[in-house]
Amino acid sequence: MLSWDEPSSKPSAILPAVRYDLSGEPASRVQAARQVEACDSAAMTRAKAALDELDIAEGLAELAGSAARVRVDDKQMINCRADLNQLVPFKYDWAWQKYLDGCANHWMPQEINMTADIALWKSDQGLTEDERRIIKRNLGFFSTADSLVANNLVLAVYRLITNPECRQYILRQAFEEAIHTHAYQYCIESLGMDEGEIFNMYHEIPSVAKKASWGLKYTRSISDPTFTTGTPERDKQFLRNLIAYYCVLEGIFFYCGFTQILSMGRRNKMTGTAEQFQYILRDESMHLNFGIDMINQIKIENPHLWDSAMKDEATQMILQGTQLEVEYARDTMPRGVLGMNAAIMEDYLKFIANRRLVQIGLPEEYQGTTNPFPWMSEIMDLKKEKNFFETRVTEYQTGGALSWD
Ligand SMILES: [Fe+2]
Ligand SMILES: [Fe+2]
Repeated sequence: MLSWDEPSSKPSAILPAVRYDLSGEPASRVQAARQVEACDSAAMTRAKAALDELDIAEGLAELAGSAARVRVDDKQMINCRADLNQLVPFKYDWAWQKYLDGCANHWMPQEINMTADIALWKSDQGLTEDERRIIKRNLGFFSTADSLVANNLVLAVYRLITNPECRQYILRQAFEEAIHTHAYQYCIESLGMDEGEIFNMYHEIPSVAKKASWGLKYTRSISDPTFTTGTPERDKQFLRNLIAYYCVLEGIFFYCGFTQILSMGRRNKMTGTAEQFQYILRDESMHLNFGIDMINQIKIENPHLWDSAMKDEATQMILQGTQLEVEYARDTMPRGVLGMNAAIMEDYLKFIANRRLVQIGLPEEYQGTTNPFPWMSEIMDLKKEKNFFETRVTEYQTGGALSWD
């Protein structure tokens, strides 16, 4: 029986590793069930006969060495041999908690009213050229960046993280990335933009292309289906990917654009687009925190990976990412706009970069930084129940038109 007062950190119930004898089912019972009936079609007969060839041991052989009940101590972030299909007992409560928090924050792009944005975007005097440039550049960057993140998660990270509660969160994160790409598509479509121009920007606009190709470099080798972890060099390669995606792509590359669009919303312009970005930013700050927890846990379990060369590489990656984001800020803001400019953004990005360094246990690199946009932190902590349900479109129907007939 479940008790809701039970402490979450209860000692793990450790059961003896027993291999169950799967040949115990009486053959006569199976034969009776498989018997071909007069009413069976040829296809049904073939299906029954095919099951006679099913070897139950075959699936279990794939889990060789792990076909026992899982114990907490067997679990590891990478290179784990324990059965990955057994979610509990949990070892990393933080991963499960983030999964629950992610589900509690669920939202969909169609819940947000875009009417005011459409009118403003289509009006001749609504926005300045600099403001329009910011919207287009950011939709251009983000509409493909979230796909890069999702592909890296699904094609590379998921397979190599050998812990089921982390995988559960990664599945949730992958869906959230799909929602983010959907949100950008929804904005682009609502505003009647040239979809080809926006979605191809990561090939055509240098400041966008540089960020995308910097990220792609780290996904290339480990998304090769033959890539495996298991040696210090390959484990480091995987760790580099996690730092690139969680600390730099999601932790730095998103921050100039988020700040610009949210600043526009604070000035009562493009409020629907800004609201979309607001919910995306809240999801992203959780992705970032999850990634940092994973990186730090891998470091704890594999201290030999976190040597001085790796620390130097991680620092370099964060500094390179910051530099590319500073260049992006200059390209998107050739002049002052929305009460900010590229120099103020540079201060903010250095402040963010210092935080990323400290979060993975490295010293700050930029001296004397302060946060020029404290309101950004407030938005990240936004609680859905305080704000979301007050502004959402009430006619929104979850899951589209369901019909039980
Ligand atoms: Fe995202
Ligand atoms: Fe993300």
